[in-house]
Amino acid sequence: MITEIGKNFFMIRSNEEEFHRNIYLKQFIGQDNSAVNMLFDPGTKLDLATLLPLMKEKAGGINQTNLIFLSHQDPDLTANAGTVMASAPKSFLITSVDTWRLVKMYGLDEKRFRSVESFDSYALKLKKSGHRVRFIPARYCHFRGAMMLYDYESKVLFTGDFMGGVNTRKGEGIYANEESWEGIKLFHQLYMPSTRAVRKTVERIFSISPFPEVIAPQHGDVIQGEFVMEFLERMALLQVGIDLVDDNAPEIDLVILGINNFLELIQINFSEVHAAFLERFQRSGDFTSPLVFTAGKVSGLKISPDSALLQIFNVLPEIADPEVHKHLKGMFINVLDQLDIQFQIMEQELAAGSGQGAEEVMGLDDMLE
Ligand SMILES: [Fe+2]
Ligand SMILES: [Fe+2]
Repeated sequence: MITEIGKNFFMIRSNEEEFHRNIYLKQFIGQDNSAVNMLFDPGTKLDLATLLPLMKEKAGGINQTNLIFLSHQDPDLTANAGTVMASAPKSFLITSVDTWRLVKMYGLDEKRFRSVESFDSYALKLKKSGHRVRFIPARYCHFRGAMMLYDYESKVLFTGDFMGGVNTRKGEGIYANEESWEGIKLFHQLYMPSTRAVRKTVERIFSISPFPEVIAPQHGDVIQGEFVMEFLERMALLQVGIDLVDDNAPEIDLVILGINNFLELIQINFSEVHAAFLERFQRSGDFTSPLVFTAGKVSGLKISPDSALLQIFNVLPEIADPEVHKHLKGMFINVLDQLDIQFQIMEQELAAGSGQGAEEVMGLDDMLE
């Protein structure tokens, strides 16, 4: 479905229920009715089934793309860059030099790249139509060269990953409400590296004039109305990333981070065990589960961090066969160790492991060929 979120600013979103990718098209229409078509974060192969119809309906085809803007280098938004550039041979790619350094590895044509840094005051004026846009750095949110883009005509601020979220809102539609905040918060705690970087980016957004009416992120809900100010203010106070690993941060956040890191690892390495884990702990409304889930990730603990870790540790042999269990144990201990989480079992295991050797605890020799 195509939604117009601001003047000539269109959005399509991927079908995943928990974590959407959003792609946007802005049409800068000149007085002679000609259009400059700008695509924002054009997604991956998986998005072509919706991207092609969007471009057909609004612009007459993907070959009518004039500009492609990339907020940063991640494959969830850049993988289509080469396809779009090949389909629209006169199109240009605009992104930061930091992003270009990495996306050029797709074999993109350097002659068709314009760096954000090369525009005076980070502003781009379209000769033909007179429209203006401004690039706004989102330094280290979550990438060193991450960029946002403000469209003066629609007052839409495209923010890339910043202000994005996993889906915690119930029901249809694309616009954020109070329920969206949990997912935005969780995404930033996990993905944004530092509280200071997040605060700086919020400050930059507050300095935009006129103030944005719509925030359009690459993931999750589109933020408009009262929620623009409300969520930015909350964001300025949010602790994220490395600061959750700080000694002063409450231990509970650190343990949640550890459990989520562990879950991600088993999802990649042992997807059936991951499914069994969710089945075991996520049964809806089951008050015996020590974990609170939000959009497939742990967002809270119902018991003390120590007891939660112990429960997880004890469930592992029930959801995996002995061979896999050996790997899981190693991963679990390793993940906690990386975050400096002290866990009683860990010391026992490490002591007992003296006869096994570190490699065997990790199961490295079985995992590598
Ligand atoms: Fe990203
Ligand atoms: Fe992303």
